[in-house]
Amino acid sequence: MNTMSVESIYQDLKTKLHDVVPDVELRLKSEIAFEINKLKKERNAVILGHNYMEPALFYSIPDYVGDSLELSRIASKTEKDIIVFCGVRFMAETAKILSPQKTVLIPAKKAGCSLADGITAEDVRQLKSKFPGVPVVTYVNTTAEVKAESDICCTSSNAVAVVKSLKSETVIFLPDEYLARNVAHETGRHIIFPALTGGDPGNETLLDKPIIGWKARCEVHEKFTVEDIQNVHKQFPDVVILAHPECSPEVVAASDYSGSTTQMIRHVQQTNAPRYLLLTECSMGDNIMAANPEKNMLRLCSIRCPHMNEITLEDTLEALRKTQHVVEVPEEIRVRAYRAVERMLQIIPSAAD
Ligand code: 13P
Ligand code: SF4
Repeated sequence: MNTMSVESIYQDLKTKLHDVVPDVELRLKSEIAFEINKLKKERNAVILGHNYMEPALFYSIPDYVGDSLELSRIASKTEKDIIVFCGVRFMAETAKILSPQKTVLIPAKKAGCSLADGITAEDVRQLKSKFPGVPVVTYVNTTAEVKAESDICCTSSNAVAVVKSLKSETVIFLPDEYLARNVAHETGRHIIFPALTGGDPGNETLLDKPIIGWKARCEVHEKFTVEDIQNVHKQFPDVVILAHPECSPEVVAASDYSGSTTQMIRHVQQTNAPRYLLLTECSMGDNIMAANPEKNMLRLCSIRCPHMNEITLEDTLEALRKTQHVVEVPEEIRVRAYRAVERMLQIIPSAAD
C-alpha cells in the first residue's frame, strides 16, 4: 500500500508530468492524492484506475491500472473491504457482480456510457425470442440487467476469442455495432442487423455464419473518421495510428493497429515509431508519454469521453470520506450476470486470436 508523503507524491508526479501538467496543479493534486492514499489504508480499500484516467490521478492513487478485462480480474480477487473504481459505472458494477461481499464505490454518480445506455434487458429478451437457442455475447459496456440476459460477456481485448470459443454457427453480439462489425471481419463472419436491432426490415436470413448485431455506438469512438487519419498522415507521414475496436471498421482498416486500451499501450511500448496517434480517449496519450518520455504522441483531444472525465481526485476523496456512491446490484440479477462475466474470465485468448 502506498504511504508516500505529499512531497514524494509531488516529486513522482513532477518526474512523469512536468511536460504535461503545470507545477501549481501538481502540488494541489499531490495533497489530495496523499489524503486519498492515507484514507485508502485506514479503510482497507483498493483503488482500481481505468487507463483513461487523467494523468495526475492515474499516476498517484490507483493500486492497479488497466483495461476493462484486467480490472475485472483484479476486482474478482481482491481481499480488501472496499473497491473504489475510478472508471465508469458498468466497470464498477462488474466489480460488484464479481465481488458481492465488498463495498464498491464509484467517485461520480453520473459516469455512464453511451453503449450501456444503448440496450435494455427487454431488448435482449426480444432478440432471444426471435432467435431461440442462439448464444448471446454481451460487451461488458452494458448494465448488470443486460449481462444477466446473456450467455457470456466479452471486452475489447477478448471479443474475438469469446466468439470463437462458442463454436456456434450464429452468434448474437451486443450492443456495439462497430465492435460487432470488427469482430465479424476478424472471424470471417457475415453481419446482419435485423429490424428489431435498428436494421433493415427483412434482413433476418441467417446465412454465412452470421453475427447478429445491435445498433448502439460509443459516442466517443464513432467520431473518429478516415478523413482524420488522412489529414494526420498528410502532416505526419511517419505516424503510426492505433484505433480502439469501438471505432468504425473503416477507421480500423485505415489504422496500423487495433486493440483494447492496454493492448494499445503495449503496442506503443514495444514498437519504435517516430510518433504515434491513439484514436481513443486522449488522456491515454498523456499517460503513455509520462511513463515513456522517449515516445512522441500526437493527440486528437477535441474528442473526449465525458463520462470517464467525471472521475476526479476530489470526488475520489469524497467517495472514500463519505463511503459514497455505493454500487449495488440486486442479488437475483447479480447471480445471473455473474455466470456471463465468470464464463468470460475463463477464456484465455490464444496467440492466434
Ligand atoms: P478497454 O476494455 O479497452 O479498456 O475499453 C473500455 C472502454 O470503455 C473503451 O471505450
Ligand atoms: Fe463508454 Fe465510449 Fe466512454 Fe468507453 S469511451 S466509457 S465506450 S462512452
